[in-house]
Amino acid sequence: MPTTEEVPEPLQMLQLLGGFQLSQALYVVAKLGVGTALADGPRTIEDLAAATGADAGALGRIIRSLAPLGLFRTDGGIVEATPLGATLAEGHPGSVRDVALFWMETHYAPFGELLHTAMTGENAATQHYGKPFFDWISGFPELVELQSRTMANVTNGLRAGMFDGYSLPEGRLVADIGGADGSMICQLLAHEPGRRGIVFDRPEVVPSARKVLAEHGLADRVDIRSGDFFEAVPEADTYTMSYIFHDWDDESCLRILRAIRDAAAPGARLVVIEAVIPPGDAPHPAKSIDLTMLGTMTGRERTAGEYEALLTAGGFSLDRIVPTATPFSFIEATLR
Ligand SMILES: C[S@@+](CC[C@H](N)C(=O)[O-])C[C@H]1O[C@@H](n2cnc3c(N)ncnc32)[C@H](O)[C@@H]1O
Repeated sequence: MPTTEEVPEPLQMLQLLGGFQLSQALYVVAKLGVGTALADGPRTIEDLAAATGADAGALGRIIRSLAPLGLFRTDGGIVEATPLGATLAEGHPGSVRDVALFWMETHYAPFGELLHTAMTGENAATQHYGKPFFDWISGFPELVELQSRTMANVTNGLRAGMFDGYSLPEGRLVADIGGADGSMICQLLAHEPGRRGIVFDRPEVVPSARKVLAEHGLADRVDIRSGDFFEAVPEADTYTMSYIFHDWDDESCLRILRAIRDAAAPGARLVVIEAVIPPGDAPHPAKSIDLTMLGTMTGRERTAGEYEALLTAGGFSLDRIVPTATPFSFIEATLR
């Protein structure tokens, strides 16, 4: 087998260009529940096809194309999921199955308009759906739920361990702005019995928080509130905003910060949870997620300096940026 360096450039480029097929092959595996069906151990292709309702010949070829990428081991028609393949299984601790479903069912088609984005600076999702992404998705309750489950995948999988050893700045009442189904505030308040919380998100999103808070035994400590964070947010001592700034351009972020300023007293603390882009060309997940933002939102991934400038312009002072073992950092600030 040639090493990566020995693969001729035209072939390397063909492999990159085939990314659209790879995304769809991974989607098929996630959607059909192939990883889930393999959770209890290896199965024959025929058995797997019967369990997932697929055509054995087609499924076998899709699995054969993914095996060299490290998702499956195949031996004499028996298929086994590797730890990487298992991340597409439902219920796996590091599952990103919902990310696969969400991206392919809401992001894949708009990315066909990326050329429009490159020519105009307008995001492809708005061009494709005829309205901004969050306005479009609010018309599809099942996709809104999938979006929140996707974010829960990110919290439980990609961010696993990031909360270990981290305590929020002081403040008895913590409001998670754009808190989706409450998965994040559950992590933040689980070991903080003295604090109360609020999960705040759009009206069509927050109903799913009821179940998550109940599962974590936090229903009596965390209130569910809905609204528009560009207009008004609840009063609190400490605010958290996870993966919110990266969705929005600076002007929109400043509107959210203004809503917090209107609700909070000077000295209120803010913790922004984002993946901060490091300098240089070294790989970092924030660099590819920035492409996701370019195609679907008005937002962007930002550097430490850009976060500091934004917070300063919004009336906050940056206190510190706490990196974690994950791609995400806690960016702590205080309302001046
Ligand atoms: C990328 S998700 C982040 C979810 C969660 N904070 C996390 O980190 O897992 C962005 C969230 O912002 C919410 N959101 C978008 N526009 C909003 C608005 N105008 N007011 C309140 N929430 C909004 C979305 O519904 C979604 O739950």
